Amino acid sequence: MTNVVVIGSQWGDEGKGKIVDWLSERADVIVRFQGGHNAGHTLVIDGVEYKLSLLPSGIVRPGKKSVIGNGVVIDPNALIAEMDKLIAQNVDISPENLLISYSASMILPVHQRVDQVREAIAAKAKIGTTGRGIGPAYEDKVARRGLRLADIVDPSAMAEKIHLLLAHHNLFLKGAGEAPMEAEPIIDSINRLRDRIIPFLGEAWAVLDDARRDGKRILYEGAQGVMLDIDHGTYPFVTSSNTVAGQAATGAGVGVTTIGYVLGITKAYTTRVGSGPFPTEDEGADGTLLGERGHEFGTVTGRKRRCGWFDAVMVRQAGKITGITGMALTKLDVLDGFDTIKICTGYKLDDQIIDRLPVATIDQERLEPVYEIMSGWEGTTRGARSWVDLPPQAVKYIKRLEELTGIPVASVSTSPERNDTILVHDPFEG
Ligand code: GDP
Ligand code: IMO
Ligand code: MG
Repeated sequence: MTNVVVIGSQWGDEGKGKIVDWLSERADVIVRFQGGHNAGHTLVIDGVEYKLSLLPSGIVRPGKKSVIGNGVVIDPNALIAEMDKLIAQNVDISPENLLISYSASMILPVHQRVDQVREAIAAKAKIGTTGRGIGPAYEDKVARRGLRLADIVDPSAMAEKIHLLLAHHNLFLKGAGEAPMEAEPIIDSINRLRDRIIPFLGEAWAVLDDARRDGKRILYEGAQGVMLDIDHGTYPFVTSSNTVAGQAATGAGVGVTTIGYVLGITKAYTTRVGSGPFPTEDEGADGTLLGERGHEFGTVTGRKRRCGWFDAVMVRQAGKITGITGMALTKLDVLDGFDTIKICTGYKLDDQIIDRLPVATIDQERLEPVYEIMSGWEGTTRGARSWVDLPPQAVKYIKRLEELTGIPVASVSTSPERNDTILVHDPFEG
């Protein structure tokens, strides 16, 4: 028995939410450890759709404990709005089943404002952020001027910190020709929510330590993906946190040795939302078809996701950087009906074939993918729940992805529905 961390191995939206929900049947505790409400995780259970951004995807299962760790950035308004939306969908949320770390950083309205103003100024060079204030909130954390959730416990100390924070950010806003932000409305809005939030706060690290010593199974739920990692992704077109598996330890307050298995959620093709290099992007008919069949629109912003073929070079690299033990392949059904399917096996750069993503953006942008072309399969994989239900050519495709990435497949997902999933190897068995 081991604990499992789930991470995205591409640029996010690989289907982490669906897999975490499915795996959480076998877990006792489900923990978010980085990111914020830039994440959008969709679950479908018996035809009912649940959209989660901040809350761990285990929250929908009765009897499981969900934890939001210190590494997450939390907008109190977004948190309460998400809770209320789920409660309206008959999901139980109480301090019995949800714990939020005192040490998690707060996203305030000024962070969102700064995020949006910067993106507008950057114009063509914009990152294409979700505009949720994620970057500015993490910057304030590292700059040691940020607020943590613990700060809402003492309203007068909190007010003082917010005044200081605004003095800092208003310099930028005024310089950018924008109206400065007032402290009082921000302070009032948090104070209105404090009685609802305080009962959920606690020492997450201690609760996780107890759970581990009691032999409970802990499932860590990553947001975004390895290629959006602040250090290892396609910088600067990345998010502002570490999205790799090691962050589960830092962002939850547990020892690295307590996490045994890294499950890399991997889409059977590739998507990206926002700006930045994307070697296998297909702006032609195939990319459009992948987007239509895969319903590739962002959960958070509704933006159309850019689409392209599977990039085995990138996933192999992600697997090495973060140490993926097994891959949960998702959205295989989206490839049903394609006559031919391409897999990127290398990149051409200045007449050389390379087998890794170069560091410089300028080089990443001019890579030409080298493709291996496979024929597609007859019939459908949609809704398959066992290996024998897959067309032989689809099995061949999966096997080829295993060979090229060097990562064994632990499960295959064949529709948005929770149970339309083939289990090959149980990650909790290590
Ligand atoms: P996440 O951010 O990694 O949790 O992924 P998202 O939820 O943002 O995006 C994945 C989308 O694909 C969601 O709408 C899921 O319901 C859907 N999805 C997940 N797995 C599958 C699958 O195997 N097949 C199909 N067709 N859709 C899937
Ligand atoms: P999930 O968890 C896909 C992208 C944004 C942008 C960049 C920086 O659903 O997979 P940010 O607002 O974080 O500063 O934006 O990162 N991005 C995501 N793309 N899935 C996500 O989360 C993402 N979270 C952020 O589009 O390119
Ligand atoms: Mg998503």
